Formats: sequence, structure tokens, C-alpha cells
Amino acid sequence: MKNRVSTLLLAFAAAAAHAQPSALNETQLLGRQVFAQSCGICHLQPSLGVKTYGPMLNKSAAGGNDEVMRAFIVNGTERMPAFKYYLKPAEIDAIIAYVRTVPVPANESHK
Ligand code: HEC
Repeated sequence: MKNRVSTLLLAFAAAAAHAQPSALNETQLLGRQVFAQSCGICHLQPSLGVKTYGPMLNKSAAGGNDEVMRAFIVNGTERMPAFKYYLKPAEIDAIIAYVRTVPVPANESHK
């Protein structure tokens, strides 16, 4: 029985690896890098199952609206810092382009 569970876990891990977007363009790659540096501390899980301070971001972030997302990044919120003095507009564009490549997790697709 134990063996069967670990086989299942392996199968899930393999499926998850396949779901990763493989080919990002240059803008999206820059966005991923800036995102990891400036936003990861609150928006990326350090490991599976750990709760992040900010919501997980993907395609559907900010209602799927790029302008709303830009407003979040530029102005921040009560709990999130504003980035208008730290990031160039091109870096913000790149982050948005990257986040739009992140698939919505299957169990959250109703959001
Ligand atoms: C200090 C932690 C922190 C950092 C750093 C941070 N955020 Fe946030 N972010 C939050 C929190 C918390 C929220 C939830 C909104 C709230 O509670 O005010 C949020 C919300 C958002 C939202 C809205 C999500 C939604 O769908 O409602 C976006 C988009 C976002 N952040 C993008 C970014 C980006 C891009 C960066 C990096 C440039 C960043 N955040 C850096 C904490 C952070």
C-alpha cells in the first residue's frame, strides 16, 4: 500500500513538471527574474504547502486585467509596498507578461 502511494506521488510530480510553461520569451523571462527578486518574498511559496503572505499570482490575478494588476504594482496596498520608485515601467510590463503565463491551479479555476 505504501508503495502505491509513493508511485502516485511520483506520477503527480511528473505531471506537474510537464505543466510548467517551457518556452518563455525574453520579456517573460525578465519578468520572471524581477518577480522572483522583488515579489517572491510575499508571492512565491518557499516550499509546497507553506502559506504565502500575499495571494498566489497567476493568469487570473487582478481579475485577469493587466491595468488593474499594474495599479497594484505601482501603488501597492495597505499590506503591499508600492513599486513605482523601485521598478521601471518596462520591468512592470515584463512582470505582468510573466504572470499571465502562469496557469491557474486546477483547484482554483472557479475563482
Ligand atoms: C510585502 C509583501 C509583498 C510584496 C513584496 C509584494 N506583494 Fe503583491 N500583494 C501582497 C499582499 C498582502 C496582497 C493582497 C492585497 C492586500 O491584502 O492588500 C498583494 C496583492 C497583489 C496583487 C493583487 C492580486 C489579486 O488578484 O487581487 C498583485 C497583482 C500583486 N500583489 C503583485 C505584486 C507584484 C508584481 C510584486 C512585485 C513587484 C508584489 N506584488 C510584491 C504583498 C506583497
